[in-house]
Amino acid sequence: MGDNYHTLDQYSSEKNAARQRRSKWIVIGSILVLVVLIGAGVAAGIIISNRNKSNGGSSSSSKGNNKDPSVFTKDPRLHKSFYGLAYTPEGSLVPECGNSLENVIKDIQLMSQLTTRVRLYGADCNQTALVLEAIKQTKVDIQVFLGNYVVPTDHAAYERQRDILKDAIQTYGTDHIAGVTVGNEFMLNYLTEHEATDPDGEIGKQGAAILLADIQDTRDMLASLALPKDIPVGNSDAGSFFSTDVLSAVDYGLSNVHAWFANTTAEGAAEWVTTFFEETNVQPAALLPNKPKMYIAETGWPTKSSDAGNANNGGSDASVAGLQAFMDNFVCQANDNGIPYFFFEFFDEEWKDIQFGGVEGWWGLFNADRTLKDITIPNCTAP
Ligand SMILES: *[C@@H]1O[C@H](CO)[C@@H](O)[C@H](O)[C@H]1NC(C)=O
Ligand SMILES: *[C@@H]1O[C@H](CO)[C@@H](O)[C@H](O)[C@H]1NC(C)=O
Ligand SMILES: *[C@@H]1O[C@H](CO)[C@@H](O)[C@H](O)[C@H]1NC(C)=O
Repeated sequence: MGDNYHTLDQYSSEKNAARQRRSKWIVIGSILVLVVLIGAGVAAGIIISNRNKSNGGSSSSSKGNNKDPSVFTKDPRLHKSFYGLAYTPEGSLVPECGNSLENVIKDIQLMSQLTTRVRLYGADCNQTALVLEAIKQTKVDIQVFLGNYVVPTDHAAYERQRDILKDAIQTYGTDHIAGVTVGNEFMLNYLTEHEATDPDGEIGKQGAAILLADIQDTRDMLASLALPKDIPVGNSDAGSFFSTDVLSAVDYGLSNVHAWFANTTAEGAAEWVTTFFEETNVQPAALLPNKPKMYIAETGWPTKSSDAGNANNGGSDASVAGLQAFMDNFVCQANDNGIPYFFFEFFDEEWKDIQFGGVEGWWGLFNADRTLKDITIPNCTAP
């Protein structure tokens, strides 16, 4: 079955990618630590830690049996301080699926209290329509970067998702769509599978050609709809795996920048992320003729590991205190410095823990049951 194959392939790719990412980051990390020490330091963020101890982590309809999703209790612990959030609705992996509008509405209600931007990774299991429907029903101010998770060995997966995206755009219009991201960690996975490392090398160019065709096809699909506004088309990859060919063909690039995989401490993570992103992504992109806008696609800190061996990656432990330190140093400072980022991630994803173990399932601001972790959300206003 194509779908089974796709799922297995996606799982093992991501697992390999995580391993590869870890060692890659460590190498890059050691080089960059030096750069960071030499380079001008970024002033430490000043953060408020007003611990607001009110209860009620989950948002439900406020009054009795009120079923209007646009009426919901706001959690005073939440602030709209995040530029964006990385999100995958629970139950969005083929072939199992199992997501529900009810859960997505709950998630959108919570996320709308933290940000005005959400990015998705793929389109399977109707997640595109569910998110746009939830935004419609909750009437919240959220822009979505839709996604098409491209698998090198399964072109039908691309086409299936493209058709879902097309359908969702036709149904919901463009008011809440900020972009369509074609490919997530595609080059990282492609190179890892072919035991190569250079996205601009011969094998890298083979992989890039697959993406380039899909990016053009997505542009053609959008053009065929004669939409009232241009929808930017982008690509997402691990920070040091962007293909120059691909970046030259997109309107934006989403870059995963994880201090955790770079042997940094939680306290040093914000500065590391800022420097890495600027030097590895922003500066090279600015030299390309099309000048794609670069965003941090994922950045965060895990709050625990499922096994002792992965509880520390060289710098600090995976811990709630580490997440707090990273947020305190990164979030408001990145806002002030005009760094666009998607915090990773909205909630703990159980499937990742089941498949990969270690820290993979524990990056959420919220637990899997959508209660807020024991953290203080920075109180500043994101742009
Ligand atoms: C996808 O979600 C939308 C919004 O909830 C719904 O109207 C539609 O029927 C769903 N499609 C499928 C195939 O489940
Ligand atoms: C991680 O950083 C520590 C402290 O700077 C250093 O002693 C250690 O060798 C580094 N580990 C790796 C794998 O680079
Ligand atoms: C958050 O900041 C706003 C604006 O400065 C302030 O009015 C509000 O009291 C703060 N909230 C908390 C919980 O500190």
